[in-house]
Amino acid sequence: MSKEIRENFGSKIGAVLAAAGSAVGLGNIWRFPIETGQNGGAAFIIVYILCVAILGLPIMISEFIIGRHTHTNTAGAYRKLAPGTQWKWVGRLGVLSGFIILSYYSVVAGWTAEYTKLSIYNSFDGKTATDFPAIFTNFVSNPWKPLIWMLLFMIVTHIIVIRGVKGGIEKFSKIMMPALFIIMMVLAICSISLPGASQGLEFLLKPDFSKINGSTILSAMGQAFFSLSLGLGCLCTYASYFRSDTNIGKTALNVSIIDTFVAIMSGFIIFPAVFNAGYTLNSNDIGPSLLFITLPNVFQQAFGNIPLLSYIVSILFYLLLVVAALTSTISMHEVVTAYLSEEFNLSRHKAALMVTAACSTIGIFCSLSFGPLNGIQLFGMSIFDLFDYISSNIFLPVGGMFIAIFTGWYLDKQIVKNEISNNGTLRIHYLKLVIFVLRYIAPIAIAIILLNQLGIFKFF
Ligand code: PFF
Repeated sequence: MSKEIRENFGSKIGAVLAAAGSAVGLGNIWRFPIETGQNGGAAFIIVYILCVAILGLPIMISEFIIGRHTHTNTAGAYRKLAPGTQWKWVGRLGVLSGFIILSYYSVVAGWTAEYTKLSIYNSFDGKTATDFPAIFTNFVSNPWKPLIWMLLFMIVTHIIVIRGVKGGIEKFSKIMMPALFIIMMVLAICSISLPGASQGLEFLLKPDFSKINGSTILSAMGQAFFSLSLGLGCLCTYASYFRSDTNIGKTALNVSIIDTFVAIMSGFIIFPAVFNAGYTLNSNDIGPSLLFITLPNVFQQAFGNIPLLSYIVSILFYLLLVVAALTSTISMHEVVTAYLSEEFNLSRHKAALMVTAACSTIGIFCSLSFGPLNGIQLFGMSIFDLFDYISSNIFLPVGGMFIAIFTGWYLDKQIVKNEISNNGTLRIHYLKLVIFVLRYIAPIAIAIILLNQLGIFKFF
């Protein structure tokens, strides 16, 4: 154990905002809206909310219990709760997932910073639809520019993490999360007031239950995991800094509501502008291409009549992405830093430096896989895609499944009860329900997603 004194979050709201900061990220803005639009609008939103409520919330509560009870990093937590068993591997897998996701996520985070810069320099002015794919491709295939942004993003993340839990993560989240909400509101109002916005809202919200099938349910579950930062012990690590009076159930509910709200609001920003610009979305408009090719063009066309407005909207939008990404990268960095520092008795500074150096090195390869290393394919995927696939489609669900089994079957129920009720000081009515979901529903549902995704057994 590290000799350094272990900090806690200074306030309950600080804890909620830090955990919400981890959850709210690029996943909310680049994946949720388009999946919703293409998979049945409000019908998909209902399925997604059910996934968050039935699977996400109990697993988040589970991570909070494990973290707060042990007051240590995620790998140490399983070692403490299940000494001498193999459960420690669940924690270690989480640390590895955090490490891998941080490495490729920071590459995209770097792109958001470049696009903020381009917006500030008004570089999109006068550009047409045909210019944007080239702008993006030239940038990501440049061997240096994306690397520099990725490294800068990593350095900023590093600086916040070494300032500690209270003075770094909490303080930063308390400033950035309200800023993020304000930016979102301004952007949503601008977008909704565009002519033709109602068509965009209809695309997002009109329920089409005929589009709901097995695979849309699976994608809703996968999206819920990634979006809520579940399955890798990130929220477990944050909960290890919760104070004893933090209400675990309420915090989990607040984080889930904030994350879902931001995801839906992103749709309110994106679709009215897309429809106003007369753009037809297709299946390529998912992930990076939506954010870096479609949207700069859409903002240009939709708000082009008032150049100042398109200038401001563009800056605000990419700034929003930077903030959302940064609060997520610090949470992933913290998972690995806390692990190294506490398990190997290193100072926080030294541990953080090792994480920054190692993730930046892997990030370099991920970044170059869009340029000079483009030809390198592993299992038919680029380095970037492979890391994304392994971590989001395999490690997170596997981690989530074992977290549910651990709390549902292995962990002493008195510990679960004491943590949820703050040692009997809170009246709670949902304990049995949570345990039931963790024992049966979550492991079975996640096993189905996994087997299906890996093609081992096709349910749908
Ligand atoms: N929840 C983040 C997003 O939606 O972008 C991504 C993420 C952050 C995943 C932290 C995992 C994590 F530990």
